[in-house]
Amino acid sequence: MNVDLYEKIWMWASGLLIIAFLTTIVVGVAGSSLQPPSHVETIDPTKVWNDPRFAKRGVTVDDHGATVVLIAMMFAFQPAELHVPANRPVTFRLTSADVIHGFEIVGTNGNTMVVPGYVSQFTTTFRTPGEYLIVCNEYCGLSHHLMSAKLFVDAEGARP
Ligand code: CUA
Repeated sequence: MNVDLYEKIWMWASGLLIIAFLTTIVVGVAGSSLQPPSHVETIDPTKVWNDPRFAKRGVTVDDHGATVVLIAMMFAFQPAELHVPANRPVTFRLTSADVIHGFEIVGTNGNTMVVPGYVSQFTTTFRTPGEYLIVCNEYCGLSHHLMSAKLFVDAEGARP
């Protein structure tokens, strides 16, 4: 079969593009631990405040790391200030009391959607102590731009 030279070039070019995209995904997942949260756990969005999983909100630190339990709502995160240890795995467990919100810890790989009816969970480790801004990055209403919280990553041995 006789394939036109230009057609051959485009076939090779599109093949290389697919390889480039797949490489990006593999490097992102294996190299940088970037993966979409896929923890499927449901919750009644009308009863999040009474749900035992979200009754005690805030940070719990143990020997292995920390767990953050937090509720997102129009237009705040509850609690709005968090202290977690540096260099230890921190597991975030989030849910929404109303509509879809975002949860992005600016400057880190901590970023997930917070969807009513589901518990969003991800684990990450913060290497650099300091103060981080948490923002809602899903438009959720008129005061969406005011929806923020603060994360303090405390150096080893530091007390909140
Ligand atoms: Cu919550 Cu935007």
